[in-house]
Amino acid sequence: MAKSNLEQDILKVLVTEEELTKRVNELGEELFDKFADKNPIFVGVLKGCFIFMADLVRATQIKSELEFIGLSSYNSGTSSSGVVEITRDLQKDITDRHVIVVEDILDSGNTLSFLKKLLEAKGAASVTIVTLLDKPARREKAITADYAGFVVPDEFVVGYGLDYDQQYRNVPYIGVLKPEVYTK
Ligand code: IMP
Ligand code: MG
Repeated sequence: MAKSNLEQDILKVLVTEEELTKRVNELGEELFDKFADKNPIFVGVLKGCFIFMADLVRATQIKSELEFIGLSSYNSGTSSSGVVEITRDLQKDITDRHVIVVEDILDSGNTLSFLKKLLEAKGAASVTIVTLLDKPARREKAITADYAGFVVPDEFVVGYGLDYDQQYRNVPYIGVLKPEVYTK
């Protein structure tokens, strides 16, 4: 285990590194079976997707391309503003392509319902949503993931790419922060 000065801020571990590896490999196999002959484009939602995306694409050994889109619906707090902004657009034309969206967490649904409409408007042949985490308790938009790694309770989680105020993305598991970290 690497030295860490982040662990002291973690209240509890929700999903361990071993559980993440196992589930991401399962998702990779399911995506292989569905997309092996479709030359899909994985579209990762920055920045939260970066670790999940790296593991997922290596677990899905198919001919495919990678793209990233930057979207932001958060300021620095722990709840969504509801307004989604494109901070970095796709670099590639996705017309008639099968798109696999890779997201860290489906929470209110504002981000993914915005993105799904955007990708359809850009002419995608299909849009499949893969989210590492699903927090259904806080849904505001009627949107469901096609593939979800883990359903999580209504707690603010960090690690494996997910941040609080841009910190804790490098925690190697999914954890819950001590409340005093974000209330001070
Ligand atoms: P939504 O638009 O409310 O579904 O939220 C999507 C985005 O909010 C995610 O991509 C995350 O970046 C962020 N988010 C939502 N819940 C959490 C959480 O518990 N921890 C860290 N980020 C979160
Ligand atoms: Mg995100």
